[in-house]
Amino acid sequence: MQASTATDMATAKNINVGPIILLGAPGAGKGTQAKLVARQYGIPHISTGDILRENVARDTDLGRMAKAVMERGDLVSDDLVNGMVAERLKQPDCDRGFILDGFPRTVVQAEWLDAELTARGNTRRPVVISVDVSYNQLLQRLTGRRSCPVDGKIYNIYLQPPTNQNICDVCGSPLVQRNDDKEEVISERLKSNERRTMPLEEYYQKHGRLYRVNGELSVEQVTADIFRAIESAAVAAGTHD
Ligand code: AP5
Repeated sequence: MQASTATDMATAKNINVGPIILLGAPGAGKGTQAKLVARQYGIPHISTGDILRENVARDTDLGRMAKAVMERGDLVSDDLVNGMVAERLKQPDCDRGFILDGFPRTVVQAEWLDAELTARGNTRRPVVISVDVSYNQLLQRLTGRRSCPVDGKIYNIYLQPPTNQNICDVCGSPLVQRNDDKEEVISERLKSNERRTMPLEEYYQKHGRLYRVNGELSVEQVTADIFRAIESAAVAAGTHD
């Protein structure tokens, strides 16, 4: 599908963008891009990975159930994650739209989401954007990723280093590496992605809702392509002219 338009931030906040899904392998840049999309359109960024990690850090029941699965690079059960997303979508900040990062990840989750949106009376089908990145580039991005535990800003020691080694440019906190960014876990995550998440592309392609962007371009270029995809979908849905 081809994207066409792009707009300034003030106007963008008035567009009814509806549900947006970012698909992509671990390390494709979904978190980096979802934060920028959320800021541009004034919508919430819902990252199932972030919600799970937060629960693990707080040692909740959910966190205890998810911890071991995440540490070996596998997927948490569909029921657990669907329930978590159902709760988050009840919040009023989701009314004008939201961006999902890391969800859905299986065809079962995608079918559940379609049914859930219909049950909530949401007439807009999600705009699905796949961020495509090659295997070798994914490895470099995951092994080099560091993030700020305070403001969530994402860096890469090889590709997007902070100004001062291992220190957040924004708040000065020491950067941390995610537990699942160790090499042995990374290879499990990439395998699980191929086996269980790739069929999702086919699911959305069949429903004619899939946009593809080249995730190997600079962050700014990828963002511009994603904004164009979102806005051309809004034009097609009649919620942006
Ligand atoms: P989750 O947190 O969703 O991880 P993921 O999908 O593996 O994705 P990542 O966060 O690793 O990568 P990303 O695409 O966000 O890339 P980023 O922007 O950080 O899930 C973690 C775990 O939780 C799963 O393994 C699973 O166990 C569980 N889970 C989560 N959701 C689930 C679900 N729905 N069902 C079941 N289980 C679930 O970028 C990566 C690096 O690249 C960074 O260093 C960044 O600086 C750099 N970078 C980004 N863009 C560029 C660019 N254009 N050029 C150069 N460098 C770039």
